[in-house]
Amino acid sequence: MSIFFPHSSFNKVSKLGLWSIWLSGFLLICLSFYASEFMPNVKVEIRKPNFLNSRISSADYKSIPKISLFSAPSLVNGSFGKRQALAVRSWLGLSPNIDVVLFGNHPSLHSFASSFGSRVQVESNIDFSFLNVPFFHSMIARAEASLSEISVLVHPETILFPDFVSTLNHAYQLDLDWFLVAFSKRGSFFPFFLDEAGRLWLREDGKPIPFHKLQEVLAQTWQWDHCKERMLMAWNNKDLPLHMGVLPPFLYGKGLHNHWFINEVYHTNYRFVFDASWTISNHHVHDPDDHKLVQSAEDSTSREHAKMNWEYNGNLQLAELYGLLSSHEVGFSDFVKLIKCGGEYMYTNKDQNIVYSPGKHSSNSLWKGQTIQSRRQKKLISCLAGYSTASIMNPSLKIKMNASVPLHLPYGLETLLPVLADENKTIVLAVAGYNYKDMLMSWVCRLRHLMVKNFLVCALDYETYEFAILQGIPVFRDSLAPRKISYNDCHFGTKCFQTVTKTKSRLVLQILKLGYNVLLSDVDVYWFKNPIPLLQTFGPAVLAAQSDEYNLIGPINLPRRLNSGFYFARSDDSTVSALEKVVMHAMTSDLSEQPSFYDTLCGIDGSNRVGDDRCWEPKTNLTVQFLDRNLFPNGAFQSLWEKTNVQAACSKSGCYVLHNNWINGRLKKLKRQVHSGLWDYDISSRMCLQSWHRMKAVTFT
Ligand SMILES: *[C@@H]1O[C@H](CO)[C@@H](O)[C@H](O)[C@H]1NC(C)=O
Ligand SMILES: *[C@@H]1O[C@H](CO)[C@@H](O)[C@H](O)[C@H]1NC(C)=O
Ligand SMILES: *[C@@H]1O[C@H](CO)[C@@H](O)[C@H](O)[C@H]1NC(C)=O
Ligand SMILES: *[C@@H]1O[C@H](CO)[C@@H](O)[C@H](O)[C@H]1NC(C)=O
Repeated sequence: MSIFFPHSSFNKVSKLGLWSIWLSGFLLICLSFYASEFMPNVKVEIRKPNFLNSRISSADYKSIPKISLFSAPSLVNGSFGKRQALAVRSWLGLSPNIDVVLFGNHPSLHSFASSFGSRVQVESNIDFSFLNVPFFHSMIARAEASLSEISVLVHPETILFPDFVSTLNHAYQLDLDWFLVAFSKRGSFFPFFLDEAGRLWLREDGKPIPFHKLQEVLAQTWQWDHCKERMLMAWNNKDLPLHMGVLPPFLYGKGLHNHWFINEVYHTNYRFVFDASWTISNHHVHDPDDHKLVQSAEDSTSREHAKMNWEYNGNLQLAELYGLLSSHEVGFSDFVKLIKCGGEYMYTNKDQNIVYSPGKHSSNSLWKGQTIQSRRQKKLISCLAGYSTASIMNPSLKIKMNASVPLHLPYGLETLLPVLADENKTIVLAVAGYNYKDMLMSWVCRLRHLMVKNFLVCALDYETYEFAILQGIPVFRDSLAPRKISYNDCHFGTKCFQTVTKTKSRLVLQILKLGYNVLLSDVDVYWFKNPIPLLQTFGPAVLAAQSDEYNLIGPINLPRRLNSGFYFARSDDSTVSALEKVVMHAMTSDLSEQPSFYDTLCGIDGSNRVGDDRCWEPKTNLTVQFLDRNLFPNGAFQSLWEKTNVQAACSKSGCYVLHNNWINGRLKKLKRQVHSGLWDYDISSRMCLQSWHRMKAVTFT
């Protein structure tokens, strides 16, 4: 069960089903209507009765809804720019019931947001790729978790006008769960600005201009923007989720996600989906230079180019991976349209027939062929006719797919290191195969949560590589890795485990030689807090490693007690020479690399031991520092994993990390970690668990 699907939602769906039987009278009318007038469309026929149920009587007129606008501004040339600022001001000026949530993790976003006052907040607790691009599915989930009555997802440059609020206030009166979309219009000409208070639009001469006059001016030059990325989406936050599928981890702003999402919402059929492009003026100023900017970015450095390609290809690949079937696609012309005639909202179908009007008009009185009686109706007909030519061109949701190109991150190890390493040239390295992909994600989520950004993942196979790319993880592929990694049987003591661990020391050595310090952390090491500042204090020619000692007292550097799943190695001559010896030893050994570490550095039977917590390797002058078992406990120490509250037990002893080792079998290990609550990833929704997630459940496949 995914976190976004409370059981109640399914009950709600069946209730809707009952209502539709109640309204079978209407249903029959609609069916015959559709049969004679249209190509039959099963979807529309099914949703119609629910829709007609939503008559408004003045008695149950609801209060004004609270509206939350969600948007992800982008940093352009080091600032958030005038266009995005104007957009945000235009939203806030519409109603005091509007608040704004800006997604982003750039430090300067906070000052941008605070310049608008307390109604604008920054939300950084969503998922971002390592290039700081927000994930669309995470944004949607956050917007769905909103406590406001209505959530809106809007492009950061979209300017909104008063008809936005009137439309939402109207839609809010509908007694059902709805989801609306509105296409944006663009033009290069926008000779208006907002007054000081942000409420009135002023002409260039400083005189206020009423909204309908402003619309007339804009109507002359502005055009529909077919770019679906600019579309506005809004929905009421009642009980039903928006859709029942799982959104792939699309990168926001890199194409296809709106397309995918709207399709998903429409086909799930939980909600009444309609197109409000004609009642929500949603404009953005199109700068002819924008095109040039993109062009020049494409020709600029090949790295920039590769980066853009990667992001685009990623979304494309996802769409294909998760099966965007053309037979399932929906055209916007199928959507019911919301229009306004004679001051009243009406819903019309493809042929401009009114299918529903919350006002006095009965649904079928104006259908084609009926006698037109009053002047009022005549006016209405001409108003409707005005909309018939007003269709948005090219409304198809179809896209051209070419995802046959394998997903490939344009960075190798050597280009990733300088991008990711911290100021001390330190990198956190994890090595993972597909059998540990969920554990890898939980580990990544934990590090993101701790604001540790200098981590890097080595994928042992192509599946992990692809998975990591789509999850926005900085990843490279080890070309020398063994090809076959068994899904469930790659645990301690197996042949597979040996090969994998040997890969790790080889990679660490490679990175040390490139001049970077490495904190190697297995993905089954849970991080309570960031250990790097502490590990930095050990100084050069010291390798700090976790001890596998399980006794509470006594030496922690006894033979074979070095755990090679968590250690910090510096890029200095002693460490490099010592690691070379370890790798050489491991190559000729039948065991895993763990004994190679100990035997090479601490001597067979611990002949190089110094005191109770160190070893000294004379040839390379490397000191091995065993980490305090209370601060860096292994999975056997104090039976911490068996405690009812592992988190509390660990924070009591001041743990930095806790290793989920000393357990055999992938599933047992996973279960232990999930049940302890030391788990930060939701497998079903493919996103990191955040404080705003209301329900939490994890399943295994
Ligand atoms: C970005 O900033 C630089 C320096 O401030 C300026 O020269 C350049 O024109 C700007 N580019 C854009 C697209 O605004
Ligand atoms: C799709 O990609 C393949 C591989 O790059 C290429 O050969 C082919 O021409 C592309 N097809 C289209 C329609 O772009
Ligand atoms: C880098 O090392 C210095 C000196 O050891 C330390 O003060 C600083 O916190 C380190 N920076 C990071 C990001 O760990
Ligand atoms: C060995 O390493 C220590 C630091 O651990 C250093 O102080 C000492 O000078 C080194 N000795 C040689 C011979 O390099």
